[in-house]
Amino acid sequence: MQFKIDGKSFHKTRACTIKTAHSTIQTPVFMPVGTQATVKALDANDMLSLGAKIILGNTYHLYLRPGSEIIKKFGGLHGFSKFPNSFLTDSGGFQAFSLGDNSKPDENGIMFKSHHDGSKHYFTPESVLDTQYELGSDIMMILDDLVALPNTKERIKKSIERTTDWAEKAITYHKSQQEKGIGINQNIFAIIQGGTDKEFRKLSATQLCALTDFDGFAIGGLSVGEPNAAMYETVEWTTDFMPEDKPRYLMGVGTPEDLIENIERGVDMFDCVMPTRNARNGSLFTTYGKIAIKNAKFKEDAEPIDKACECYTCKNFTKAYLNHLFRAGEITYYRLATLHNIHYYLTLMREAREAILADNWVEFKKEFYKKRGIEI
Ligand code: GUN
Ligand code: ZN
Repeated sequence: MQFKIDGKSFHKTRACTIKTAHSTIQTPVFMPVGTQATVKALDANDMLSLGAKIILGNTYHLYLRPGSEIIKKFGGLHGFSKFPNSFLTDSGGFQAFSLGDNSKPDENGIMFKSHHDGSKHYFTPESVLDTQYELGSDIMMILDDLVALPNTKERIKKSIERTTDWAEKAITYHKSQQEKGIGINQNIFAIIQGGTDKEFRKLSATQLCALTDFDGFAIGGLSVGEPNAAMYETVEWTTDFMPEDKPRYLMGVGTPEDLIENIERGVDMFDCVMPTRNARNGSLFTTYGKIAIKNAKFKEDAEPIDKACECYTCKNFTKAYLNHLFRAGEITYYRLATLHNIHYYLTLMREAREAILADNWVEFKKEFYKKRGIEI
């Protein structure tokens, strides 16, 4: 993977270029979530028309169904889904966490019960890489042990120790596999844990970032119930312990405001279900904030969702039509709404990048908030 910083502006903002075997990614970047090898309601051509250079897939889900060996037969995620740009795959660590009582970590890995049929499976730092080699993702995430917040110091400490131990195993295994010609075009990121405790974050970041064979580093374990201010403070603190010359990825974040605040704190990459899930729930993003499309006031509204938006949906359809499709439960609604919300997120990131390159971040951020009725 090639990585280059193209420009910097206020505080820790940076605009970078990441080159994988499948695409050139300009940052800050938002990666739409495609858990099941598709961004819900859309297909590969839609993602290309939106200009997406990288999307997310999920090891846990694809391992259980259809199985990574089937995806491998079709040429990995790229051949299977026909999306030719990059894929990042999460490891399953977060999904195990989301399964609650249906998953149990120990020193060597995570045991979990399938949400489909209750069958038992065991993920190890090595096995999740084997699955990701078959998926052929451009960026693979390591298996990590994350904990719900708030939690006890002992449990957070344990999660850091385990995550570092598993990261060491993962990078050793990855190097040995690459020597055998496996995964040579695939990159691997470690995931920093530590809750919202500064000393724990520092410990996790310094331990993991000392493993210099990793291609990038993620901040995990946030946006799991802690207050927003604590998330921002944790990111601000943690990025200081991360290398300048590698991508920084904040996992599972967030709202448009979260993206802006964390770009300022030195983050390059984001993913979140928010634009896609909100679209399906009738919550649409505009420059002026969110709107609820089901609202009766849109029944005869002849305007697009956002007059300034250049997406396919806004170019062609009115709020009245979308309001009708939503209320009627029509499948077409999901596609049109998802196209718009992803377009909104990708455009916000393109504008953020332009602002950084023009060294105009402060003005850009002020404008962003002003349109939402917030003076900063
Ligand atoms: N997605 C959101 N947060 C996390 C995290 O901490 N770990 C992993 N593996 N995935 C995530
Ligand atoms: Zn639009």
